[in-house]
Amino acid sequence: MIPFRVGIGYDSHRLVEGRKLILAGVEVPFEKGLDGHSDADVLLHAISDAVCGAAGLEDIGRLFPDTDPRWKGADSGVLLSQIVALARGEGWDIVNIDAILIAQRPKIADFVPKMRENVAKLLQIEYNCVNIRGKTAEQLGALGAGLGMAAHAACLVARKD
Ligand code: CDP
Ligand code: ZN
Repeated sequence: MIPFRVGIGYDSHRLVEGRKLILAGVEVPFEKGLDGHSDADVLLHAISDAVCGAAGLEDIGRLFPDTDPRWKGADSGVLLSQIVALARGEGWDIVNIDAILIAQRPKIADFVPKMRENVAKLLQIEYNCVNIRGKTAEQLGALGAGLGMAAHAACLVARKD
């Protein structure tokens, strides 16, 4: 068997007033925040789904249903750590993560090093094995109008020997 699997993840959340903007565990100063049952960390949710996809696990919505009061306001980092533990339990090591945040505003470039550091710690992999990039939506569609943000992620896992 070829000892690698790749997974992809995607997530989106609406932007609303009166919420903090939390992206990959970093509080980014902005006039709005992402809405959701949990902390709505769209980057960690996309990364979590990419790990699930690679390791053959169910998606985060099924593993941690938002109808369950245990996950209300949940720190998405805790959920990601649990998913990584499940992936390891299935015999997979995380090799790398690549993620893109689509956000018309704000610019996240200055916060990216801290985001990568957070994700690397949660996944217990090296900083250089986590990449995160911001893109605008070129003012196209709902994301371009700043109604919300979306994130895409890819994850490679390798069979533990
Ligand atoms: O130039 P291009 O159309 O490829 O990208 P863009 O969406 O116009 O974004 C230009 C640059 O701004 C990106 O390469 C990122 O470095 C940065 N960026 C960011 O830091 N945060 C965002 N929310 C969007 C873009
Ligand atoms: Zn989400």
